[in-house]
Amino acid sequence: MSDGAAKKGFGEKPQPKEEKPRKFQAIRGTRDLLPPETALWNRVEQTAHEVFATFGFGEIRLPIFEQTELFARSIGTDTEVIGKEMYTILDRASESLWREIYELYEAFPHPSVSRDYSAFVSRLIAFVKRVEDALAGGDTPATERNIAAFEDLKEIYRRAQEFSTPDEGRRPTIQADWGALINRLLSWRNTLDFEENLSLRPEATASVCRAYIEHNMQQLPQPVKLYYLGPMFRRERPQKGRYRQFYQIGAEVLGGSDAPAIDAEVIEMVMTFFDRLELQGVQLDINSIGDKNCRPKYVESLRAELLKVKDKLGPDSQRRIETNPLRVLDSKLESEQGIIAKLPHIADHLCEDCAAHYAAVKHQLEMRGVIYRENWRLVRGLDYYMRTTFEITAEGLGSQNAVCGGGRYDGLVELLGGPPTKGIGFAIGEDRLILSLQESGKAPAQQGRDVYIAWMGERAQATAIRAAKDLRKAGFRVELPPVEQKFGKALGQADKLGAKYALILGDNEVSEGLWTLKTLADGSQQKLTEPQLLDFLRKL
Ligand code: HAM
Repeated sequence: MSDGAAKKGFGEKPQPKEEKPRKFQAIRGTRDLLPPETALWNRVEQTAHEVFATFGFGEIRLPIFEQTELFARSIGTDTEVIGKEMYTILDRASESLWREIYELYEAFPHPSVSRDYSAFVSRLIAFVKRVEDALAGGDTPATERNIAAFEDLKEIYRRAQEFSTPDEGRRPTIQADWGALINRLLSWRNTLDFEENLSLRPEATASVCRAYIEHNMQQLPQPVKLYYLGPMFRRERPQKGRYRQFYQIGAEVLGGSDAPAIDAEVIEMVMTFFDRLELQGVQLDINSIGDKNCRPKYVESLRAELLKVKDKLGPDSQRRIETNPLRVLDSKLESEQGIIAKLPHIADHLCEDCAAHYAAVKHQLEMRGVIYRENWRLVRGLDYYMRTTFEITAEGLGSQNAVCGGGRYDGLVELLGGPPTKGIGFAIGEDRLILSLQESGKAPAQQGRDVYIAWMGERAQATAIRAAKDLRKAGFRVELPPVEQKFGKALGQADKLGAKYALILGDNEVSEGLWTLKTLADGSQQKLTEPQLLDFLRKL
């Protein structure tokens, strides 16, 4: 026994190693939202609930993570979001199954040691049953590959069973076969997909479509109108108005119709919301990017034109000539602007149906008094869009000035295995919206208190607690200091907290039943009974 162990005594737990204090910071691109700013966030969200409800939208709350494949299919693998910005984790669904294979391997009797295979074979059949249950219960994904692997496992079991009744004369062969079988079992482990890729959602349109299909919403009265609020995650380079965890307020309309009035009403709704918030410098840009009949031809002519000027383009645009020529139109690079201005416009390449749809959307916007600007370069960065696309900018945001983006995505629900469905929606970047409101002075002032209760003495504390309870019940914001303070200090504190009134409760006030209320703005004082105090404050 070592000296240390002798001193501590037997059975005594070793002391944990003392950890040095360490400071932590929020992860780059994420941030804490603090009061009083959170009051503005709440006001914005409350307004969204109210305005969207008046348009017949209901709230949907979605999971923060989904299968990576859902986002990859919807948004497109060649997009920046999927290509490099997703936070993806490998979720090992059935860790215990994974471990059990090793245990089985270790329990495997070597023919040179024992010829009793029956215990092993019964463990193996129990394992086969466990895999079957895991597949049926969804703990292990029931992919084609996993179902084939399960068949293979059953075959390994059948072969193992044959060894349970070995023929003495075949011993060397058995030894070789037995070895081959155990290796087969071990490598079998790699044929099963225990793992699944999950990603933090970079946006929510794909999830809404997934939910629409999963809950058979096509059976509800159409169209289905849903909205959502919450955090999204993209591994972008952080800067003002661009975060890795940011917040969106979005809405989607899904159903059988692609009537242009639906597009216009969705846009009208978001403009009404911004109007209600008094967002400044709002600019709506719209475009149509055609559909699968006309867009491919346009993309080809764009590519042909871009190839002619390839040398004059930057590396990003050069790459996009191959991957996604439409995105070249998005370029903010000064040196490319003159070249882009001369490229063909999609409006001249729309098929008849798309052109008619676009004209009708514009007409519907005009009927609603929504002011827009046509922007032929507005293409959006996600693959699911077709026909109508739009973006809204606001003032005070610098280069990241898009406060809302949206568009039509007919066919996305089908791509995700659902019935033929039309869809349109938008998402507002809530962080940017808040930033713009703050820049234009639309943020509410520091959240103050209505009444600060300055109390002194044990009896006064009891009265103060009761007064605080009654005032709070009547809806006033009350600060009740936890410990006694000299009146001078209490009044100073009340001032710092932005209180409107100080209610002074000392021995005199309590015994007289007359409380002193001081108006902090002008220093005036008045004596009031308890009911008079409530009356007085209520009338303000
Ligand atoms: P999006 O254009 O990728 O569209 O994002 C919409 C808005 O989210 C942007 O205009 C911007 O305000 C905000 N946003 C995006 N990334 C960031 C970031 N890193 N930091 C801060 N704000 C950001 C979509 O997400 C589509 N799902 C919109 C939609 C809904 N289309 C149809 N339905």
